[in-house]
Amino acid sequence: MASNRGVAYIGTGKVEVRSIDYPKLALGDRKCEHGVILKVVATNICGSDQHMVRGRTTAPSGMILGHEITGEIIEKGRDVEFLDVGDLVSAPFNIACGRCRNCKEGKTGICLNVNPARPGAAYGYVDMGGWIGGQADYVMCPYADFNLLKFPDKAQAMEKIQDLTLLSDIFPTGYHGAVTAGVTTGSTVYVAGAGPVGLACAEACRLLGAAVVIVGDMNPDRLKQARSFGCETIDLREDAALGDRIEQILGVPEVDSGVDCVGFEARAHGHEGQEAAATVLNSLMTVTRAGGALGIPGLYVTDDPGSKDEKAKSGVLGIRIGLGWAKSHTFATGQCPVMRYHRQLMMAILHGRTQPAKAVNATVIPLQDAPRGYTDFDKGAARKFVLDPHGLLAA
Ligand SMILES: NC(=O)c1ccc[n+]([C@@H]2O[C@H](COP(=O)([O-])OP(=O)(O)OC[C@H]3O[C@@H](n4cnc5c(N)ncnc54)[C@H](O)[C@@H]3O)[C@@H](O)[C@H]2O)c1
Ligand SMILES: [Zn+2]
Ligand SMILES: [Zn+2]
Repeated sequence: MASNRGVAYIGTGKVEVRSIDYPKLALGDRKCEHGVILKVVATNICGSDQHMVRGRTTAPSGMILGHEITGEIIEKGRDVEFLDVGDLVSAPFNIACGRCRNCKEGKTGICLNVNPARPGAAYGYVDMGGWIGGQADYVMCPYADFNLLKFPDKAQAMEKIQDLTLLSDIFPTGYHGAVTAGVTTGSTVYVAGAGPVGLACAEACRLLGAAVVIVGDMNPDRLKQARSFGCETIDLREDAALGDRIEQILGVPEVDSGVDCVGFEARAHGHEGQEAAATVLNSLMTVTRAGGALGIPGLYVTDDPGSKDEKAKSGVLGIRIGLGWAKSHTFATGQCPVMRYHRQLMMAILHGRTQPAKAVNATVIPLQDAPRGYTDFDKGAARKFVLDPHGLLAA
């Protein structure tokens, strides 16, 4: 049996690459006949992982991280009918059974059968069902026929693997944020956050035909990255009101659509912006036109032991809902149902319509260097780190 390594969450600010068990095709003590074992070809570090590594969740020490997984099938269970050993596949970060009411409605981010604690599951994530993460050499994926997206041609896929690896999460997530915010041909959009999700969202807005995409952040390197593919940017360290800054760009202080690509660790605008979890939601309501929609892929939690704010410890934030109500805003929250979009986005990548890896500055590093990747990402590097466990991307 092959050996295996995985990236373990140790405690606040600390991850470690350690030896872990080779995955079994098993669910508890029964065989997982609908699952496959993947040899991981690419697996990315995500801002969602950072929430855990910053000690802002109840993630247990020792948990193996990694929900953004692309890999080759090296073993399959008896009931996997439509995939084969040797197929190169993208695994949506959401694990979904394909059989429950929500899966049947396409709401795979809130599958009812894969997490005893609550609807919705993911690999390597706190409260998400205890599934072992894929920042590893090998990982098990259940309900393979339903979940996995096969790339039509392996050699062609390997040429664009840095784009395709983003299909497991952030490209569909950014696209979902844009779609649920109503972005379409000719839209004006404000994207809060220039991390990988915000940049992927900005690229998705471009693909959807938005007239102007404005990205706001406090991180000048990340804003520069946004400008590199045609976005307008707003440096939120400056004191001017967000609406005034938008007016300087558009001639009006409003946008058609607003997308939150920040989540609950949001900071207040202005120079020494301290953490203020409701900032993004309140500013999106302020600058989005009446009748517009807010896409909210940014993550909000039910338990935040690391918050300095007593109410925020249980996810209670000071949201000005009266403003959103008065403007008849629509809100879309929750995990992105990746499968709703991944095939279409794969086609757009394979046919050269979009280059998300360039937008997010995908940067390949060996699995062994994951701790450095986490540290640099936490410092705000304008990069999306892609781990390469078997050295297949470096080649
Ligand atoms: N819904 C989903 O399915 C899903 C999937 C993936 C990631 N996420 C979430 O998306 C969010 C972004 O992920 P990421 O990887 O880009 O994270 P990230 O931490 O790299 O990026 C967040 C960015 O927001 C900036 N920021 C902080 N306060 C801000 C403010 N008030 N206005 C604008 N920008 C501000 C930060 O400087 C940072 O650059 C995270 O909360 C992550 O958990 C959700
Ligand atoms: Zn992710
Ligand atoms: Zn289900």
